[in-house]
Amino acid sequence: MGWEAVVAMGSVSRRIFPLSLLLFLLFDLLLNTVGGEAAKVPAIYVFGDSTADVGNNNYLPGNSPRANFPHNGIDFPFSRPTGRFSNGYNGVDFLAMHMGFRRSPPPFLSLTNKTKHQIMRGLKGVNFASGGSGIALESMGSTISMTKQIQNFAMIKSNITARIGTKTADYLLSRSIFLISTGGNDIFAYYSQINSPNNTGEELFVTTLVSKYGDHVKELYTLGARKFGVVDVPLIGCCPYPRSLNTTGGCIDMMNELALGFNNAVRALMQNLSWTLKGMKYSIGSSYALVLSVMKNPEALGYKEVKTACCGAGKFNARTGCTPNATYCSDRHHYLFWDMLHPTHRTSKLAGLAIYYGSQKFATPINFKQLVEDKV
Ligand SMILES: *[C@@H]1O[C@H](CO)[C@@H](O)[C@H](O)[C@H]1NC(C)=O
Ligand SMILES: *[C@@H]1O[C@H](CO)[C@@H](O)[C@H](O)[C@H]1NC(C)=O
Ligand SMILES: *[C@@H]1O[C@H](CO)[C@@H](O)[C@H](O)[C@H]1NC(C)=O
Ligand SMILES: *[C@@H]1O[C@H](CO)[C@@H](O)[C@H](O)[C@H]1NC(C)=O
Ligand SMILES: *[C@@H]1O[C@H](CO)[C@@H](O)[C@H](O)[C@H]1NC(C)=O
Ligand SMILES: *[C@@H]1O[C@H](CO)[C@@H](O)[C@H](O)[C@H]1NC(C)=O
Repeated sequence: MGWEAVVAMGSVSRRIFPLSLLLFLLFDLLLNTVGGEAAKVPAIYVFGDSTADVGNNNYLPGNSPRANFPHNGIDFPFSRPTGRFSNGYNGVDFLAMHMGFRRSPPPFLSLTNKTKHQIMRGLKGVNFASGGSGIALESMGSTISMTKQIQNFAMIKSNITARIGTKTADYLLSRSIFLISTGGNDIFAYYSQINSPNNTGEELFVTTLVSKYGDHVKELYTLGARKFGVVDVPLIGCCPYPRSLNTTGGCIDMMNELALGFNNAVRALMQNLSWTLKGMKYSIGSSYALVLSVMKNPEALGYKEVKTACCGAGKFNARTGCTPNATYCSDRHHYLFWDMLHPTHRTSKLAGLAIYYGSQKFATPINFKQLVEDKV
């Protein structure tokens, strides 16, 4: 954006918006014109599990699920392990890039000190996601639960509000994207704990989980969120780890059934909520549909290996995580999975494209691009 545009925007802003917003917009334009393409939304706030974590768990004590060591990050700029469960970027990074950012906003736990600079960073977005967390897994001690992630957002919001005022903060939040990518760990936890699977039990589990999901969404709405970008649960029964549990090497069917049931219920939930919560907009991106497409048609999409993880050890490279002494593949762009549970950089890139620009098959009722461009 050229200097003329900055000036034009300033003169319009002075009449309509408070001074603090004008200052923010100028700051924003300065930052973004240096980085190239301007951001399309004021900020992105990210919630969820290891599919979205960009390093929060690095700061947690104890045995939290982590990826801040090689060979993770081998294809990240400077081959740096950041805490992402990927050889490079994850899906949130690509979605953020499509919205005009360099990558995901920084992890919440990296913003510990209340400097002006940090608050300005919070204004551009924060990633609260924590590997191992779930929708209803409140008792997992070594991860940041969804409830806690939302409390952390509330704190960031109050810091921002203190700095730029309630009106401006609410205005910016209502135009920001709230990304949520979670649910897989709840399904893993349920699967590992049931003794006698039956339809009634599964339906009750899904209903309870989705109701909890609705509570989180309503909480965020109350805090000022209006635009929700939801990523659904992938075909988790076909990840290398579940496959390694099946003697035939097939997918674990029940996990996929639960994922599908959950995803359908989330669609119904979000539609219901958009009818009752004034001004709420949403898009549901389908990592489930993306993984299914790749598995049905690997060669056409450039894949050679869709069962075995690139990095790990044992059956399907899925009996250990991607630790420093694990082996890893050299042709990583031909692999669907990076480790026992997570996609490669290439798969995340494909998912980002499908969810941002894709048809109804990959994003409903609108895609992320439409969500971003929709006027509130
Ligand atoms: C925050 O400030 C404290 C004390 O002022 C300092 O010890 C710590 O290293 C700082 N943390 C970060 C992430 O900058
Ligand atoms: C937000 O404000 C609280 C209370 O003033 C402070 O303890 C915290 O460090 C701040 N956090 C950030 C990320 O600025
Ligand atoms: C069905 O599953 C639920 C939850 O797992 C369990 O409590 C219940 O006993 C099961 N019912 C039957 C008939 O096995
Ligand atoms: C294991 O995979 C086979 C297909 O190879 C499938 O029929 C079977 O149901 C799977 N087992 C479980 C527990 O899902
Ligand atoms: C959506 O609303 C309908 C009608 O009020 C209700 O029957 C259904 O249970 C709701 N679904 C979800 C997932 O909230
Ligand atoms: C890697 O090393 C750890 C201990 O440092 C060990 O527990 C693990 O079994 C090793 N894994 C492999 C695949 O050799």
